[in-house]
Amino acid sequence: MPRTRIHNFSISLDGFATGEPQSLEAPFGHAGQRLHQWMFATRFWDPSGSAGVDDAFAQQFAVGIGAEIMGSNKFGPPGWQDDESWTGWWGEDPPFHTPVFVLTHRPRPALTMGGGTTFHFIEASPSEALSAAQEAADGLDVRVGGGPTVVRDFLAAGLVDHLHLVQVPILLGRGVRLWDGLEGVEESFDVESVASPSGVVHLTFTRRTD
Ligand SMILES: NC(=O)c1ccc[n+]([C@@H]2O[C@H](COP(=O)([O-])OP(=O)(O)OC[C@H]3O[C@@H](n4cnc5c(N)ncnc54)[C@H](OP(=O)(O)O)[C@@H]3O)[C@@H](O)[C@H]2O)c1
Repeated sequence: MPRTRIHNFSISLDGFATGEPQSLEAPFGHAGQRLHQWMFATRFWDPSGSAGVDDAFAQQFAVGIGAEIMGSNKFGPPGWQDDESWTGWWGEDPPFHTPVFVLTHRPRPALTMGGGTTFHFIEASPSEALSAAQEAADGLDVRVGGGPTVVRDFLAAGLVDHLHLVQVPILLGRGVRLWDGLEGVEESFDVESVASPSGVVHLTFTRRTD
């Protein structure tokens, strides 16, 4: 059975997956790049990077993935819907290489980019979005790419089979939290953790089958 997976999703010790305010100049607000420094240091991101624990986890991002679902605030800064020329942060060849379903209350026509990425803009419930993405994924897994609002909604709806979280040893104090309203969600998963020499802790939540 195809699975619904989340990878490399990074949160601070106090549970924030982005800072504030989000803007064109600061996509992660006051968090800057601190949530993803662990990933930028790996071979997954940079050919001269490290090839240890962090890289082993990071590399799973694209393995067996046939489509992504992301939230409107991951696709662009506040107000991107008013800019017809906005095509996302990632340039002509975004790193997805699959259909990507962008959840938004202001849909627009699909956008075909280089490298196999097509952005589809849809207004749909998490389960409807997942059905559309699964159809497009053609038997492969679907990745939920974030941000935290969308990941939280998919967890709350019981739609996530595998969650790879990266707990980064910083305190953000403000931003968008992942865990609000998800009390007890861990009971549906087998949870494992691996501490990396880099200082981050990788947590995997794998849906129980019993
Ligand atoms: N820490 C990480 O690893 C990580 C990963 C990915 C992204 N991020 C960061 O997370 C931030 C974005 O996260 P976020 O929580 O603010 O927002 P988000 O999850 O990206 O998007 C939420 C927005 O998506 C739209 N949406 C959600 N569900 C919908 C539905 N069912 N139907 C229609 N539209 C729907 C709504 O926008 P509208 O009402 O405007 O349409 C909603 O406000 C960015 O800073 C991004 O860089 C962090």
